[in-house]
Amino acid sequence: MPFRQEPLPYALDALEPFMSAKTLDVHYGKHHAAYVKKLNELLKGSPLATQSLEQVIQATCKDPQQGAVFNNAAQSWNHDFFWQCMKRGGGGAPNGALATRITSAFGSIDGFKEDLQTAAVGQFGSGWAWLVVDGRTLKIVTTGNADNPLAHGQTALLVVDVWEHAYYLDYQNRRPDFVQTFLDKLVNWDFVAGNLEKLTLEESQGAHA
Ligand code: FE2
Repeated sequence: MPFRQEPLPYALDALEPFMSAKTLDVHYGKHHAAYVKKLNELLKGSPLATQSLEQVIQATCKDPQQGAVFNNAAQSWNHDFFWQCMKRGGGGAPNGALATRITSAFGSIDGFKEDLQTAAVGQFGSGWAWLVVDGRTLKIVTTGNADNPLAHGQTALLVVDVWEHAYYLDYQNRRPDFVQTFLDKLVNWDFVAGNLEKLTLEESQGAHA
């Protein structure tokens, strides 16, 4: 099994009452697990099986013949990333360099949250709402189904899963309530800040290479 599902970074009940253990059990244990299992089946004996998940995504994102591989690789990656975007006692506001960048891009932290909320709620059907760095600009983007920023040359900083399986057991059809709760109670800003720091470091190393 070349690709493995990363361990959930907290217990199944860690995000209660905002995301139930039942939701995490089904979402992580069934939906996410199924993408990884399917990817391994699809890539059995393929040279892509020796690559990283990111490399598989980049190698298949522009090839319609590889749609099934892309979808399962991207969904495997998207979920690994999404789990890290949350923590018990999360939410509130970012600080430091991340806060400065968000304020400069979106006017204020609250402005950013409103824009992300609008984008997430406005994504028609299944998909994801992301904070990304595109070039040197912070942007909010949405992607449908499995699509993700790696396929578009962007660096992901934060994501919220807006597939119904992410929230239906806890919020039924109330996606706005789920996204609001994600922003107010669950976001792991340390992880988001770490993603920006990593990118800044890579850019500065690139500039001196
Ligand atoms: Fe999901």
